[in-house]
Amino acid sequence: MSSAKPTVAILGAGSIGCYVGGCLASAGAKVTLVGRERVLSGIRSNGLMVSDYRGRSSHIDSESITLATDANACSGADIILVCVKSAATEEAAMQLHDHVKASVTVISFQNGIDNADRLRKTLPGVNVLSGMVPFNVIDRGNGAFHQGSAGELEVETGMLPDGIEALFANCQLPLLRPADMAGIRWGKLLLNLNNPINALSGIPLREELAQRNFRRCLALAQREALDLMDACDIRPAKVTPLPPTWLPTLLDTPDWLFTRAAKRMLAIDPLARSSMWEDLELGRPTEIDWINGEVLKLAQRCGRSAPVNATLVELIHDAERGGRRNWTADELLRVLETAR
Ligand SMILES: NC(=O)c1ccc[n+]([C@@H]2O[C@H](COP(=O)([O-])OP(=O)(O)OC[C@H]3O[C@@H](n4cnc5c(N)ncnc54)[C@H](OP(=O)(O)O)[C@@H]3O)[C@@H](O)[C@H]2O)c1
Repeated sequence: MSSAKPTVAILGAGSIGCYVGGCLASAGAKVTLVGRERVLSGIRSNGLMVSDYRGRSSHIDSESITLATDANACSGADIILVCVKSAATEEAAMQLHDHVKASVTVISFQNGIDNADRLRKTLPGVNVLSGMVPFNVIDRGNGAFHQGSAGELEVETGMLPDGIEALFANCQLPLLRPADMAGIRWGKLLLNLNNPINALSGIPLREELAQRNFRRCLALAQREALDLMDACDIRPAKVTPLPPTWLPTLLDTPDWLFTRAAKRMLAIDPLARSSMWEDLELGRPTEIDWINGEVLKLAQRCGRSAPVNATLVELIHDAERGGRRNWTADELLRVLETAR
């Protein structure tokens, strides 16, 4: 590769894709965003605005980025960041298969466990790396994307094109390269078990986590997942200041103690919600089968059951089919405790 800056394409220009793409473009990278016209039109009219809780505030002219709805716009890229939801991974991979050069590197910046493997299956011979986005991004509309919580991007070890790590570091999104990416994915999944609880609550994350009975719902889901991970010899990595096995105990504590002990967990934009809430709001399929559904797969693998996570999966599928309502913490806890 030449000393020119690597070219970056984002497949899936939504909250994460536009935020990361905007940050990279603000550092001078040549960025292509591939997404839906409903998202791109806001950027065409207003430019792309990226901001964060620390005071980042960058505006990128729409002429400085390439905007496209067809994945063939990824064809010249040195690196492609896949930022579609898990349900769209296969379709995205098929589209890339037809257009990318063999030397490209693909990073999956998606939640869930197996998105990178699913990409590898359709893109044999391509350097596909698993990534993790620990922070929340809010789509404020009209081309504005806001990082609402802390955390650093992680990408599994493996070759990255020249200049890529410097590019991410230059725009204050340094890449961590953990050796145990599988453990990181399982550790993140434990936190993401809150996504359906937040979506069912109908309230922002900070308000939801401030209520002990919603936290108890999450603790039930996490304890069940931790037991099954242990039974399947899976060691979730530490992705918060506390070891994963301590999380349910922290969540169970009374509000006065939790608000003191979990300052970092509550350090989140007051408007932030899980992207599962956003999917239900927009009538889109959610990632539930790739989040809590992974716990059901573990249960199947070791001949056990996972009633708490199965109930959350069922409630979200009901909501996807139109049976949506906002649950109180007491109601949801009662249903999950009865299922157990
Ligand atoms: N949002 C967050 O705060 C956050 C935080 C951490 C991790 N994550 C994870 O990051 C991943 C992306 O989440 P997100 O919230 O950024 O999703 P998102 O806002 O839904 O963005 C994805 C966008 O890609 C579009 N898309 C899907 N397939 C496409 C294709 N083949 N070509 C072009 N566009 C396509 C989607 O359109 P359609 O809706 O029409 O399919 C959607 O507009 C998920 O795995 C999520 O769990 C999200």
